[in-house]
Amino acid sequence: MKVFLIGYMGSGKSSIGKRLAARMGYAFLDTDKEIEKEYGGSVREMFEREGEAYFRNKERELLERLGSLDGDFVIATGGGMPCQPGNVETMNAAGLTIYLKMGPEKLASRLAGGRDKRPIIRGLSDDELLDFIARSLEQREPFYGKAAMVLECDAAGDEYVCAQAEQCVGWAAKQNAR
Ligand code: S3P
Repeated sequence: MKVFLIGYMGSGKSSIGKRLAARMGYAFLDTDKEIEKEYGGSVREMFEREGEAYFRNKERELLERLGSLDGDFVIATGGGMPCQPGNVETMNAAGLTIYLKMGPEKLASRLAGGRDKRPIIRGLSDDELLDFIARSLEQREPFYGKAAMVLECDAAGDEYVCAQAEQCVGWAAKQNAR
């Protein structure tokens, strides 16, 4: 089965994803890392040199390739990947989508130190960051909300979220076996 972890930047998709994959013996994939490998540069460089639309096309192409992969994978997706038309539907058709839901305050505190490598929030002050996250989260919520499962992560530690995600995968596997 393919498990797509979706959610805003800083919500823990990569750390939870790695932990979940190790626990379940699934392979782990990070869409940003895959795109960077293929490009031979960072996401930030890609945004700067080629523009955001180019990056979003690369995300779409990668998602189509992932859909036809065989085997068990946990896939940590870039925060904007499910928010492009059709993408979250493609993920829902290809596997189990889990939204790691976190509010703007917690996201802002988790993202404060990682602003530089993320082109979307690079250069924002602390106040601007919180404001930006609140606004863009509101726009993205309808896409994230299409996930098959939603895990509230504001007050939960990684271990707890991971255990809950594992239960979701177990449940989905049973549904698929029917
Ligand atoms: C983005 C999120 C980033 C990366 C790119 C754009 C976004 O991934 O794909 O910087 O639009 O939310 P993470 O969510 O892994 O930080």
